[in-house]
Amino acid sequence: MESTANILKTIEQRIAALPLQREPQGLYEPIVYSMGNGGKRIRPLLTVLACQVFDADKVADAYTPAIAWEMFHNFTLLHDDVMDRAPIRRGKPTVPAKYGDNTAILSGDTMLVEAFSILHQTKSANFSKIAELFTRTAQEVCEGQMYDMEFEERADITENEYIEMIRLKTSVLIGACLKTGALMGGATDADAQMLYDFGINLGLAFQLRDDLLDTFGNPETFGKRIGGDIVCSKKTYLLINALNAASAQDRATMNDWLGRTEFDEEAKIEAIRGMYVKYGIDKMSQKKIEEYDNKATQILDKLSARGLEVSPLRELSQKLLNRDK
Ligand code: IPE
Ligand code: IPE
Ligand code: MG
Ligand code: MG
Ligand code: MG
Repeated sequence: MESTANILKTIEQRIAALPLQREPQGLYEPIVYSMGNGGKRIRPLLTVLACQVFDADKVADAYTPAIAWEMFHNFTLLHDDVMDRAPIRRGKPTVPAKYGDNTAILSGDTMLVEAFSILHQTKSANFSKIAELFTRTAQEVCEGQMYDMEFEERADITENEYIEMIRLKTSVLIGACLKTGALMGGATDADAQMLYDFGINLGLAFQLRDDLLDTFGNPETFGKRIGGDIVCSKKTYLLINALNAASAQDRATMNDWLGRTEFDEEAKIEAIRGMYVKYGIDKMSQKKIEEYDNKATQILDKLSARGLEVSPLRELSQKLLNRDK
C-alpha cells in the first residue's frame, strides 16, 4: 500500500507534467498559476485512496481521472472567485484579481474542457460509468453554484435549502472523486455507492467547516479573505441560524446590514460576526460538522468490518474536519 504522502507526491508530479505551456500565454498562464498554486489536493487524493481500498494494483491508472477531477475543481474556483468577488486564494491573488474577470472566465472554460480531455485518457473497464458520473457531477456543481448565488438575494433560506445547496456545489464532487476511485479499483456498484455516500457526508462537513473558517479562521493559514461570505450576504448555516436564534431587535439589525447595497465592509463583518458569537452559532456549526462526520465514519466502519483497509480515508477525513486551511 502506498502512503498518503507518496500519493500526494505523485499527484504533484502529474500536475507539474501537464502540457500547459501553450499559446496564447494569456489563456494558459493563469491555468498553470491556478494548478500550481498549492491547494490541499484532497480530491485527487480521495480518488487514489478509494481505488487503493479495492485494488492496490490499479492505483497507477487511477491518477488520470484523479488529475481530471483536480483540474475540474480548479476550474470551479476560477469562476467561483469571479462570482464571489474574492481577492485572495491560497494566500495569493485570485485569478480574476490578478488577470481580470474575462481571463478567469475563459481560462476556467479551458480548464473544464481540459478536465474532460484528461478524463478521456482513463484506462478502465468502468470508463463509461466514470464518464457518466463526471458529466452529471459537473452539471450538479453548476446547479449548486446557481443556488448559492440566488440565495445571496433571498432572505428566507431554510437550513434544508442550505444543505441541499452545499450538497450540490461541494459534496457531489467529493463523492464523485471517491466513487471514481472505487470504480477504478473494480468495486461493485453497491460498494462504489457507499464511498459516494461517505463523500456526501464528508463534503457537507467540509463545506460547513469552510463556512466557519470564512468567518472565524486565521487569514494567514486559511489563505482567503476572512469575512468574504458576510460581505456577500451568503446564506450559510451560520447566518441562517443566527437569524433564527436572534431577538427581534438583533434580527432587525442583521436584516438591515443584509439589505444594504452600500456599506463599510469591515463594519458589516464585525456586526454579523458579533451576532454569531452572541448566539453561540459557531458552536452550533461545530456540532453539525460532527453530526455529518459521524455519518461518514459509520459508512467507513461498515467497510472496515468487512476487512477493507479504510484507515487512510479515515485519517484524511479527520484531518480535513479539523483543518485551519
Ligand atoms: C475550496 O476547496 C472550495 C470548497 C469546496 C470550499 P478546497 O478547500 O479543497 O480548496 P484547495 O484546492 O485546497 O485550495
Ligand atoms: C465553493 O464554495 C464551491 C465551489 C467552488 C464549487 P465557496 O465559495 O465557499 O469556496 P471558497 O471559500 O471560495 O473556496
Ligand atoms: Mg468562493
Ligand atoms: Mg462561492
Ligand atoms: Mg468558502
